[in-house]
This record gives sequence, C-alpha cells and structure tokens, in this order.
Amino acid sequence: MKNKIILGVILVFAVIQIYRIEKVDYEEPTKNGIILYEIPNKQVAQLLDETCLNCHSNQITYPWYSEIAPVSWWIADHIEEGREHLNFSEWGNYSPGKKAHKAEESWEEMEEKEMPLESYVFAHSEADLSAEEREILIQFFKKLENKYTIEG
Ligand code: HEC
Repeated sequence: MKNKIILGVILVFAVIQIYRIEKVDYEEPTKNGIILYEIPNKQVAQLLDETCLNCHSNQITYPWYSEIAPVSWWIADHIEEGREHLNFSEWGNYSPGKKAHKAEESWEEMEEKEMPLESYVFAHSEADLSAEEREILIQFFKKLENKYTIEG
C-alpha cells in the first residue's frame, strides 16, 4: 500500500512536468527602465535590481528550480502578476500621474513589508533587506512620488 502511494506521487510529479511555463523573453535594459530613466545612485540601483526587478521588469532571471513543476507555475504566476501591476522597464512610458501613483504604492507596499514577496526573500538572501536598506528604497520612492506629483 505504502509503495503504491509513493509510486503514485512520483507518477503525478513526472506527468505534471509536461506543463512547462512560458518564460518572459529577456530584454536588455532600455532608457525607459527606471534605472536609466531616473538614474538613482549605485546603491539604490543595486537594491532595486536585487529586490524588485526580478518580478517587475523585462529582465527576469529564472532560478534552476523554475524548471520544476509545480514550483515553476507558482514562480511564473508571481512574475506574470507582478509585471501586470507594475513593470519598471516601462517606467518612462508611464504618465506622470501613473508614475506618482506607482511610486506611492511602492513605498507603501515596502513600509507594510508586503514587497518584496516573502517567498522571494526566502529563496533570495540578497533581497532580505535590512531596515536601513528598506528605508533607502522607501525614501527613493517617496522622492519619486513627490517629483511626479508636482509635475503631474
Ligand atoms: C517574487 C516576485 C516579486 C518581487 C520580488 C516583488 N514583487 Fe511587487 N508584486 C508581485 C506580485 C505578484 C504583485 C501583485 C499581487 C500583490 O499585490 O501581492 C505585486 C504587486 C506590487 C505592487 C502593487 C501594484 C499595484 O498596482 O497594485 C507594488 C507597488 C509592488 N509590487 C512593488 C514592488 C517593489 C517596490 C518591490 C521591490 C522592493 C517588489 N514589488 C518586489 C511580485 C513581486
């Protein structure tokens, strides 16, 4: 009985591997991306890169386990949903009002510790922000919100 259950689990695991995720095509950063558009200092650029851009941009790097269902489905879902809400590679194309709004949401999400997603931090220690690093990004987004609130 126990052997049959184990065999069953292995079989299901094998079969679900047929359902591959569709990966986002990697695009080189452009001048519309938030980093080349806003030119933050090096530390902010690195923090953005390490904590946000792997779900909210066109520069997605997939970890090896993104090949393995069902984890792959879960990762693909985060990336799809994340980019739908906010794509920092499209930053330059957003209207001033949208920039202000997305910047505001960004610092709010960070202040509430909703972003970066906990599951992402679990798998990516470089995204495990210290309080100080979190504050640096929050201040960056607050400044952006102000900048585009005045302009818009
Ligand atoms: C593992 C992928 C992942 C990472 C990393 C990540 N996000 Fe997200 N983000 C999502 C997903 C999925 C959603 C939509 C669902 C939700 O709100 O939980 C989202 C939603 C958001 C929203 C809400 C946008 C809206 O229109 O409602 C903001 C703002 C945001 N993220 C900012 C950030 C910032 C800033 C960082 C880096 C500090 C970050 N995210 C890191 C996946 C991610």
